[in-house]
Amino acid sequence: MILITGGAGFIGANFVLDWLADSDEPVINLDKLTYAGNLHNLASIEGDARHLFVQGDIGDRALVAGLLAEHRPRAVINFAAESHVDRSIHGPEDFIQTNVVGTFHFLEEIRAYWNAMEGIEKAGFRFLHVSTDEVYGSLGPDDAAFTETTAYAPNSPYSASKAASDHLVRAYHHTYGLPVLTTNCSNNYGPYQFPEKLIPLVMMNAVAGKPLPIYGDGLNVRDWLYVGDHCSAIRAVLAAGKAGEVYNIGGCNEKTNIDVVRTICAMLDALHPGSPVTPHEKLITHVKDRAGHDRRYAIDAHKIERELGWRPQETFETGIRKTVAWYLANPDWVANIATGEYRHWVEKQYGSQA
Ligand code: NAD
Ligand code: TYD
Repeated sequence: MILITGGAGFIGANFVLDWLADSDEPVINLDKLTYAGNLHNLASIEGDARHLFVQGDIGDRALVAGLLAEHRPRAVINFAAESHVDRSIHGPEDFIQTNVVGTFHFLEEIRAYWNAMEGIEKAGFRFLHVSTDEVYGSLGPDDAAFTETTAYAPNSPYSASKAASDHLVRAYHHTYGLPVLTTNCSNNYGPYQFPEKLIPLVMMNAVAGKPLPIYGDGLNVRDWLYVGDHCSAIRAVLAAGKAGEVYNIGGCNEKTNIDVVRTICAMLDALHPGSPVTPHEKLITHVKDRAGHDRRYAIDAHKIERELGWRPQETFETGIRKTVAWYLANPDWVANIATGEYRHWVEKQYGSQA
């Protein structure tokens, strides 16, 4: 079996669902259930004996040691993290605790577990650490895309904490020989994404007739990847990646934020003409820019294509269509999210513009 962390969050939940759709190998899913963790994401596999959910912290050494000893996973995939740049600006401490200190404690337990293994079991074990392109910093309009050898230059508390975790993972390979794999991926979108991130936030607000907040001039560029393509890339790296190597994962879909928002608005005009305000573009509102806002991210994904034969299946147009359709078809999931802690966050971040 495999152990994954953060599997009640956006990408982790998509990964668990994809994994079990494709394989009968069981998954232990260790997740703390922070505001971003949501068991509704896993409702379709409720009662499935191949999935064991455990609520807990990656930094809880006794819990992690017990899970490893009891279930003896052949691989571990670490999705668990605090993941939202804006929250890291308001309160970086949780990011240091989970992404840096938590990853350190987790690595220590994984190292002890792997050290005690022998033979084929030991040789086949892998620790896959899921990271982000944001560790590479910000690109100018004509700069070449990030490669696996681009120097780290994180600019937000989020990306700095992820960079620190990547460095620890790297060091555990070089110092202790732990067979690690690291993936650095561009912005994901798709089903089950918590609506503090741009794409689900815009969809939810547009359908409710609320303003669509664009930070600054809206010309910041992100390289968008459909979450299902990220999951298939992780499976490819886990299956055939070389221990100690880093793989960049990207969608070849560079878009400005304003283009992304306009595309969603046009799709909703066609698919959801009954919204309170149409055309939906009328809701676009420019708001104060994010502090330290990275201008452009772009991934050079040639290595994973060349070495592992992976490339994304979705274009931005096909992926965003699936995503918009999913949010429209799942109002219960959206309604469940849009309460309590989420409302509190929207007031804090967007104030009277919410
Ligand atoms: P998310 O915030 O939706 O989910 C994170 C999950 O981790 C949640 O279920 C949360 O409960 C859990 N978690 C948080 N702290 C924990 C802890 N201490 N112990 C155990 N579980 C904990 O994040 P996501 O968007 O699914 O991202 C998953 C991973 O992928 C993160 O490591 C993130 O840095 C990385 N990543 C995300 C993107 C993106 O666009 N979303 C892009 C590249 C890389
Ligand atoms: P986000 O989804 O938070 O991802 P990241 O910061 O990890 O790239 O933001 C994507 C882009 O959209 C980023 O340039 C910030 C911008 N943005 C807005 O313009 N308005 C918003 O309300 C949000 C949440 C993001």
